[in-house]
Amino acid sequence: MKQKTLFYCTECGNETAKWAGKCPACGAWNTIVEQPEKPKLSGVKGAGKAVRGGMPARRACPVTELHTDEEIRFPTGMGELDRVLGGGAVKGSLVLVGGAPGIGKSTLMLQICSKLCEFSKVLYVSGEESEHQLKLRAKRLRVESGSLFVISETSLGDLLECVATEQPDVLIVDSIQTLYNEALDSPAGSVSQVKDCTMALMQLAKGQGITVFVIGHVNKEGSIAGPKVLEHMVDCVLYFEGDQHTSYRILRAAKNRFGATNEIGVFEMQDGGLAEVENPSEMLLSGRPDDAPGTCVTCVMEGARPVLAEIQALVVTSAASNPRRTSNGFDYNRASMLLAVLEKRGGLKVSTCDAYLNIIGGLTLDEPAADLAAVVALASSYLDRPIPSDLVAIGEVGLTGELRSVNQLAQRISEVHRLGFTKCVIPAHRAEGLRSPEGLELIPARNIGEAIRAALRPQA
Ligand code: TYD
Ligand code: MG
Repeated sequence: MKQKTLFYCTECGNETAKWAGKCPACGAWNTIVEQPEKPKLSGVKGAGKAVRGGMPARRACPVTELHTDEEIRFPTGMGELDRVLGGGAVKGSLVLVGGAPGIGKSTLMLQICSKLCEFSKVLYVSGEESEHQLKLRAKRLRVESGSLFVISETSLGDLLECVATEQPDVLIVDSIQTLYNEALDSPAGSVSQVKDCTMALMQLAKGQGITVFVIGHVNKEGSIAGPKVLEHMVDCVLYFEGDQHTSYRILRAAKNRFGATNEIGVFEMQDGGLAEVENPSEMLLSGRPDDAPGTCVTCVMEGARPVLAEIQALVVTSAASNPRRTSNGFDYNRASMLLAVLEKRGGLKVSTCDAYLNIIGGLTLDEPAADLAAVVALASSYLDRPIPSDLVAIGEVGLTGELRSVNQLAQRISEVHRLGFTKCVIPAHRAEGLRSPEGLELIPARNIGEAIRAALRPQA
């Protein structure tokens, strides 16, 4: 019998019967690849009938009869990771940790083993390194415990066998792209392999209550290589990000079934491994230039935590008929809008200039509260007048150039004060009733014109 072939989209995992240049599900081009069809399981066809393969169909259960134990959480020994997970790891959950090669995923996972081993048995399965290399790395990170078991393995069958004999409480798989199921024809890392292996690991988590951490590499676009469906299957998706050139790393949750997704964890890669950064503001502001035009500090909320960030802008007369606009860590469309407002309401001729915006430290600012600092930094660069280094600007900018209020202003102001800043420009209508802490002057502004006048140093 001729085996039928099926086609998969490598982006979204959508299956189609025939090849197409564009995926009908996600619209991506040139992502459809051929895969031999898996033999259909007998008995599954009868779904919908009361009997499947001779077994009675499972009955649904009244929700009132389900036991209501809260999920069991445990600390990983890394406060920053626990924060992103929503207050520790949940027993029996599957967490996917994605990131570019060399960012520190293996280091993070191996480091948490030292705490986890205090109260549980951990099995670290690596398809990327030999046991010898793992031993050297563990030694370097000072993770040496009799409860940490390591194996260099890429076969899913052997992994499952090893789990059955070792019976670990925590399983770490490094990485999902190196794991493969021999029963499938496709190579390790392909869509069907990644899907199938994740499914098997999910069964370990849900069926046996093993907490599973899975490392995944990201592709050029920055998402975890393999189908999007992978993200739908697992409980948590964490991304480990950072600039290859700096030692700071930011961990953020893209999905979390057990908590919020707006918390970030900040780490620094040091000689002895990853160190937690409990006060990210200090790290993000280190090395700020003094008295240079085009830089302004703002305060954004990363989850429940206020974080100070530096926005840099460069505005120069453009030689091209179509001026260049680039933004790094700041929404491009938002930056274009702010430039337009600056031209129309601030009276600065920025439309004929190239404009660059950059957020220092690899942070991505997606909160409108950062608008004002971006506008002030752009104006500062355009006019070549510096902003005092002890000034912070907070506020959303509207299309008429008005400053709009932001939430949790008091909390942001106390962080600004804690770090020793002495001036803070805020939206005027929020200034009443707001107590300014000792040594910090709150400067109310109604629109961008007032804010720019208040923030920029007078011309010498
Ligand atoms: P690694 O955890 O191997 O990255 P990933 O698993 O995400 O590919 O980290 C690799 C980088 O981290 C490597 O460039 C060396 C650096 N590193 C340190 O600086 N200090 C350390 O203690 C360790 C273990 C790694
Ligand atoms: Mg690695």
